[in-house]
Amino acid sequence: MVEDEDQLRPLLKAELEVVREWRNHPDVRRYMYTQHEIGAEEHLAWFKRAQQDPNRHLLLYLRQGTPMGFANVSIVNVPARRAEWGFYLAPDALPGSGQCLGRATLAYAFETLGLHKLCGEALAFNTRSIRFHERLGFTREATLRDHHFDGQAFHDVIGFGLLASDRTGAKAL
Ligand SMILES: CC(C)(COP(=O)(O)OP(=O)(O)OC[C@H]1O[C@@H](n2cnc3c(N)ncnc32)[C@H](O)[C@@H]1OP(=O)(O)O)[C@@H](O)C(=O)NCCC(=O)NCCS
Repeated sequence: MVEDEDQLRPLLKAELEVVREWRNHPDVRRYMYTQHEIGAEEHLAWFKRAQQDPNRHLLLYLRQGTPMGFANVSIVNVPARRAEWGFYLAPDALPGSGQCLGRATLAYAFETLGLHKLCGEALAFNTRSIRFHERLGFTREATLRDHHFDGQAFHDVIGFGLLASDRTGAKAL
């Protein structure tokens, strides 16, 4: 169950800098497809583009009022109600914040947005993200071989999927 003191709500423009700091932290950046340091202008342009797209949901996760993570849900196929997600925690987030952010985002995706399927991708060396998806009930659906090139080496990517029907028995978690 999502903790009472947890909150997940749309990211505000005033909160962009804190999220950019997290995103640029080496412990987050190394697991992203784009690994360059993101400047303030690039970040603002990304935010503005997302704001104009009704299928993109940028979400701030707070624990007891303190921002501790970010998640985004992008609906990629409207008739199929299928979306992709991405997320990261504040580097100093309290232990357990990952699962809380995950459960809150799944509630938003399936209950608020009414999705049929949510998909995630993790670089094969991102063992925490892989464990995170598995704990949340995702099925490992694909191993995409040499799918990502980071400028120096190729990496496999693991594809995860969660259906609304997979959650029926898992809501009480
Ligand atoms: C991916 C990510 C959100 C996963 O979060 P997480 O690591 O599962 O976060 P949690 O806070 O739930 O758990 C952290 C650890 O504390 C443990 N933990 C969970 N609840 C706890 C609690 N109440 N007390 C103590 N430890 C706890 C977990 O078991 C986990 O241990 P593990 O890493 O050995 O499995 C996070 O690692 C992250 O932001 N990574 C960088 C960005 C990234 O990779 N994004 C995803 C790209 S695909």
